[in-house]
Amino acid sequence: MQLQHPELADLLKKAYSAEKAAAFAYQGHAGAVKNKEAKIAIRQIEIDEWNHREEVLAIMKQYNISISKWYEIRFHIVGKIISGSCYIIGWFMPFYFAGRLESGNVCEYFRMMHFFHSIGIKEHDKTLYEMGIKEKEHEVYFLGQIKNNKLLPFFENLFSWGNKKGFNDIDLDKKYSVEESEQYCKK
Ligand SMILES: [Fe+2]
Ligand SMILES: [Fe+2]
Repeated sequence: MQLQHPELADLLKKAYSAEKAAAFAYQGHAGAVKNKEAKIAIRQIEIDEWNHREEVLAIMKQYNISISKWYEIRFHIVGKIISGSCYIIGWFMPFYFAGRLESGNVCEYFRMMHFFHSIGIKEHDKTLYEMGIKEKEHEVYFLGQIKNNKLLPFFENLFSWGNKKGFNDIDLDKKYSVEESEQYCKK
């Protein structure tokens, strides 16, 4: 089946490649942190991103959507640069920007769900929901590491993410079911 939604097809291609960038970035991040628990946690997040990449690819294959060579190269470079930078920009910033990025990624999966619904497809709801919620868990983890850091208020002002500001409307303590989750990320 061909997907009659160019914007959705592009979003899937971009997500597929961006998950690789994220996984690369977390390799650097896990390598750069000294704390053993943090290393393990970030390594697990890297695995989650590789899994997301596989799940996005499975959806793409179903609709004969090809992998974008351009996104693959672009996000490969981006991921490797971020990965390397984790060793030189100190402890705080890798956690901060990882959390900020994850915060934005959450709604990407719910936007895909909205697009699929607009063309009458609901069969990917559970997969997209789980990926979106997983990104939220990643965001919460990174924020938890830095929420009391004295640098956070300054960064939150500058980059609009932190204890009060974020890029999605998901609350893990009272989350919607898969069926209700279309309500997420409407704004
Ligand atoms: Fe991901
Ligand atoms: Fe993530």
